[in-house]
Amino acid sequence: MQAAPRAPAGFAEDLVAGLSAQPRRLSPKWFYDDAGSALFDRICHLPAYYPTRTETALLAAHADEIAAALGPDAEIVEPGAGSARKARVLLRAMQRGGWRPAGYLPIDISGDHLRAAAAELRADLADALPDLPVRPLAADFLLPLQLPAPLADGRRIGFYPGSSIGNFEPDEAVALLCRFADWIGPGGGLLIGVDRVKDPQVLHAAYNDPEGVTAAFNLNLWQRANREAGADFDLSGWQHAAFYTPVHQRIEMHLVSRRTQTVTVAGRRFDFVEGDSVHTENSCKYTVAGFQALAARAGWQARQVWSDPQALFSLHWLTR
Ligand SMILES: C[S@@+](CC[C@H](N)C(=O)[O-])C[C@H]1O[C@@H](n2cnc3c(N)ncnc32)[C@H](O)[C@@H]1O
Repeated sequence: MQAAPRAPAGFAEDLVAGLSAQPRRLSPKWFYDDAGSALFDRICHLPAYYPTRTETALLAAHADEIAAALGPDAEIVEPGAGSARKARVLLRAMQRGGWRPAGYLPIDISGDHLRAAAAELRADLADALPDLPVRPLAADFLLPLQLPAPLADGRRIGFYPGSSIGNFEPDEAVALLCRFADWIGPGGGLLIGVDRVKDPQVLHAAYNDPEGVTAAFNLNLWQRANREAGADFDLSGWQHAAFYTPVHQRIEMHLVSRRTQTVTVAGRRFDFVEGDSVHTENSCKYTVAGFQALAARAGWQARQVWSDPQALFSLHWLTR
């Protein structure tokens, strides 16, 4: 018999709390079990999902300049590393430019996926950086977290691509940027990818792919709840919704009830009527100046910014 997936601490509790709140909501961190991480990787390759390829192209196009800004002998700390594809581009660029990185410390809540990604990264970089210390840390970076002791001279650089900062409302984002500063300490910096404010139609297309992968990613939350939190969501009763709200300059993702229904989660009953929604993700967009102002609230100083000719995405180098 196959063992049931291990329920992560707090998932059922968060789900019950989120469904009891008004408006109903759930943290996007719960998207990422093995299935969710794999679905996110598929999203990254969708034609309409411009952020991944635009950010990766920016890293490649400005590799020398970025590597020079980051400098030598730093351990790269990547919260929410996922499959660590962009880190490969960055680490190779640093090595090529003679700014050899001291190590790589990827952090992710999706532990098995992270360990597999770290092993793949080690193998992929064996030619260029055979001795690179890679220290994956399976953890929720929103909880109190002690990083392993720094390597050699202790210089650290944060790498937070993917516009994951957009998942947080501005005040939460400032708090997270302060937390990163504590981890990184003096003498380091933060290279962070941020999706830009743009034509809402481009945004709408990116989060409503005709292939239905983003919908499957969103709906995986209910499948995960059924697997791990004693829930009985009937997926046919729910619909993916993603739309841009100009007032907040963000894409919101929701799961919307198609009908009147009752769902049980961890022994608690929740009633929904047609059209009731559960807010599952924000993806805030920023102008370059708007993000620099936000980062300044957390004590980060804008040093350099790289963007693409279509002004879709921005990559910021910040120091303190
Ligand atoms: C949008 S993906 C980005 C992945 C990768 N950094 C990229 O740019 O393609 C977000 C990643 O952050 C991880 N994550 C989300 N919330 C987290 C948390 N609270 N603690 C640790 N990892 C988290 C997810 O598991 C996922 O791998």
